[in-house]
Amino acid sequence: MNDVAAMVIRHARIATMLGVQAEPGDGPLALLEDGALVVADGKIAWLGPDAQLPRAYADIALQLDAQGMMLAPGLIDPHTHLLFAGDRSGEHAQRLAGASYLEIAQRGGGIRATVRAVRAASDEQLVLSMQERLARLLLGGVTTVEVKSGYGLSVAEELRMLRLIRAAAMGAGCDVVPTLLGLHAVPEGIAREDWIRAVIEELTPEAARTGLARGCDAFCETGAFTQEECAAALEAGARVSLVPHLHADQLSAGGGAQLAARLNCASADHLERTDLAGAEAMARADCTAVLLPLAAWTLREKTPAQAPLFLRAGATVALASNINPGTQRIEGVSMLLASACLLAGFTPAQALYACTRGAARALRLDDRGRLEVGLRADLVLFAAEGADHLAWHAGVEHARVVIREGRIVLDRRDEPALRCLA
Ligand code: NIG
Repeated sequence: MNDVAAMVIRHARIATMLGVQAEPGDGPLALLEDGALVVADGKIAWLGPDAQLPRAYADIALQLDAQGMMLAPGLIDPHTHLLFAGDRSGEHAQRLAGASYLEIAQRGGGIRATVRAVRAASDEQLVLSMQERLARLLLGGVTTVEVKSGYGLSVAEELRMLRLIRAAAMGAGCDVVPTLLGLHAVPEGIAREDWIRAVIEELTPEAARTGLARGCDAFCETGAFTQEECAAALEAGARVSLVPHLHADQLSAGGGAQLAARLNCASADHLERTDLAGAEAMARADCTAVLLPLAAWTLREKTPAQAPLFLRAGATVALASNINPGTQRIEGVSMLLASACLLAGFTPAQALYACTRGAARALRLDDRGRLEVGLRADLVLFAAEGADHLAWHAGVEHARVVIREGRIVLDRRDEPALRCLA
């Protein structure tokens, strides 16, 4: 929206995220009360107490008075499957009637159902629907979104997905980080070994060579892929400098956390069945735990992954929406924060840290996720004074101004109904 090179935000409660995530209360936020933050050339040029704002900055034409509301780093969603087609709401009804993940897959539903829908959909349909989902994430204050492939499941269709993810990202208000998820399921009509070989020998090198993927991922699970198969795929990714991630220990305790640690994965995601030894292995390897409480809720998981297990072990914990066509269709940042606190043992401040600094760590992005001079000016000004309100008042989005690389990409300050803490 704006093209200005500089702006100053004044009188904000600035959540720098420079605290320690495991701390109680607002500790993780390392709040700067009545703070000011200066943006220049897309970066944070200065931040500190408003009373100490240098004179030169006080004259900048674009000034936002935060009136005591909380300013945080732009949120980061480090695990999504945002590019898809088709409607699998029938599976939700089947689950409510008692069907399991594997039973639904065996009936022809699950990932393979979306593969059929993606292959049948037009490029335009896929791009437009992903852009709508990105726009809804932006409403919650999300400025960086990871998006996985994994519903193409042929070399040509996976590369098509990655191209369309890139196309959808153009003109979106947030950054998109694309991940190749070749080992998501075995495609219909192809021998398992042939697909794994194609992912390792053709797809992974091509996704890296073309710059279409930044990361790679695999689904380590009974009914999906074994530890050895996932290791081979992620090692192929590492050889061409893709950042490795792993879907681990979601439905069964398969040693996924230890595998992710051994492979130096940036993150292991899901982790519903990870034990303390797995969490400790991740902490030693600086492998971030990405928890997905909305997926656990949708799947009516009796034991959602718990943040305290990973924090006690010394790991960084991130939160992600895992928006996907089958097992998680609940959108909205406030719902994610609320579910993290109600189901996964986070405090509100730990949850907000997990959506910013923790998520940046999960994607190995060191230029965002916290507020320090020299980092990207990805910011969100909430119509709330703190994390407690965000995690409690769910079902509505509280982001009022969203700034991406120093440019305002969402401004809802003037909407009449939004002027107060409604
Ligand atoms: O992250 N677990 C594997 N993949 C997705 C689900 C995909 C689907 O069911 O379409 C996930 O939850």
